[in-house]
Amino acid sequence: MKVRTNTANDNIKRLNEIYKVLKKNDFGYLIEENTFFKKFPFLRNRKLSKEEELGDSPDESIPIRMRKVLEELGPAYIKLGQMLSTRPDLVGVEIAEELQKLRDDTPVTPFDEIKEVIETELGDSMNKIYVDIDETPIGSASIGQVYKARLRETGEKVAIKVQKPNSRELIESDIKIMKFLAKRIDQFLTMTKPLNLPVVISEFERSIFKEINFLEETMNLQNLANNFKKVSYIKIPEVHTAYCSEKVITMEYIDGVAVTDLLKKDYPKIDKKKIANYGVKSYFKQVLIDGFFHADPHPGNLIVTKDGKLCYIDLGMMGILNENFKETLAELILLLIGRNSNNIIKQLIYMDIITPAQNTDKLKTDLDDFLNLYYGAELRNMDGLLDDLLNVMVENNIALPREFVMIGRGIALIEDTGKKLDPTFNAAEELKKLSRKIVINKYKPERIAKSSINYLLQLEHLAKDLPDTINNTISKIENGKLEVNLKHLEVSELINQLSVSLILSALIIGSSLAMFIEKGYHIFGYPILGLIGFVVSGILGIYLIIQYMIERE
Ligand SMILES: Nc1ncnc2c1ncn2[C@@H]1O[C@H](COP(=O)(O)OP(=O)(O)O)[C@@H](O)[C@H]1O
Ligand SMILES: [Mg+2]
Repeated sequence: MKVRTNTANDNIKRLNEIYKVLKKNDFGYLIEENTFFKKFPFLRNRKLSKEEELGDSPDESIPIRMRKVLEELGPAYIKLGQMLSTRPDLVGVEIAEELQKLRDDTPVTPFDEIKEVIETELGDSMNKIYVDIDETPIGSASIGQVYKARLRETGEKVAIKVQKPNSRELIESDIKIMKFLAKRIDQFLTMTKPLNLPVVISEFERSIFKEINFLEETMNLQNLANNFKKVSYIKIPEVHTAYCSEKVITMEYIDGVAVTDLLKKDYPKIDKKKIANYGVKSYFKQVLIDGFFHADPHPGNLIVTKDGKLCYIDLGMMGILNENFKETLAELILLLIGRNSNNIIKQLIYMDIITPAQNTDKLKTDLDDFLNLYYGAELRNMDGLLDDLLNVMVENNIALPREFVMIGRGIALIEDTGKKLDPTFNAAEELKKLSRKIVINKYKPERIAKSSINYLLQLEHLAKDLPDTINNTISKIENGKLEVNLKHLEVSELINQLSVSLILSALIIGSSLAMFIEKGYHIFGYPILGLIGFVVSGILGIYLIIQYMIERE
């Protein structure tokens, strides 16, 4: 196998290639305007600094040119573009729509090279592990190729998903350069400013490295299978872990009809209505019950098995939700279906999706407008609803959590397929039923008992921390370090009363303690010090009450 070492020389070569592609598409200045050219402004190619001069009215051809650049730059960039195409809340609707047209036309890698990867990875000759290997791939994309074979050991039919040679190395070097470019673009393109490209690239880096570690996908297959072990109508390919590695997955071959084909023609034995229903039910279970869901459930990643089950494949990327997000999401969905804008906003704040500062009148009006669109009509499609919600968020400069966008896209894909399979399909109804079940379940006695324990634990922590907090605050007061921002207009008056109240409280507590002193002078059996304290407190108290009454008048 040709081993490609990633030297500085390679990086410079690649940067040069990228520069050529950028220049061809009128983005040359992103590289030209680097620190070197900044020092020597007369060398700068002003003509190319188009976007910079255009300021706030960006060139409409930018999205198209961006797509072309990504397509020409190969796998890592295509993947990046595909990720950005699902984030209109980050890149804006125009760029997202254009990037959806990205084509992945990476050439097929010859079988010999794939065989080398398998043998290096599994440490044995391919013929010792598999028989009846079909050398024509059944699937091919930028990162992997899939082959059909049988296991020599058991004769079982398997699908072998293999990573193309050097994928990791190429991606690693591309990501380095992407980081460099992200900084440049962030500086020069006003259009992508709100996007914070460097952060997006870091997020992308994390997700693509997960995707190219096939052991992650192997684990995802096992976890999803476990979540569906009691659901008879869903199938997840079994993995043969002995023949899996970071670059190879050997899994059960699923004999059946790809849903892409089912959309094109009729198969008399397949009940399309049922399949649509399996799709939506299983997807909502993944999102709302398990919080572990397929991030890309397009029809090419769904197969109907010979015995009429629905099978999910291609689990390279999964969405994961934490317990709290999952539950609050079910509530949000019920509120959305119920169309109550006030409560929706409260829920979004509670979910940390919008900050109280982002809760503007405009947001409320926009949300009301959006909900009015659906008023009266029977809600059938979640896709339109989620898409419109997303647009309201974009309009109000609210970036949504990544998972939220993933869910919206996943639901849109499943729903779209469902509608094509069954014209009477109603995803909203299914979603409503399930969300209701979840929310009701949340208030079941045993759940409440469980969460009360959590609540008690929280209280206990609070009680433990409280003395420390009070101590700290008091020492800050003592050292004059406590800063309080009061915005009340009659602050000084307030402070006066507050000081008197504080002195009063201190006096009462002090006098009470003084009542226990046994030494010194006593009147009527009480220590004189304590009595004086109480008398003074009484006078002060009366003074405060009188002042309060005068002010109220
Ligand atoms: N377990 C399997 N059984 C049958 N066909 C499979 C299996 N896994 C993958 N394939 C075929 O290979 C294609 C590509 O596999 P997939 O996992 O979707 O990879 P990619 O990430 O390249 O989309 C699928 O569309 C499907 O046709
Ligand atoms: Mg796929």
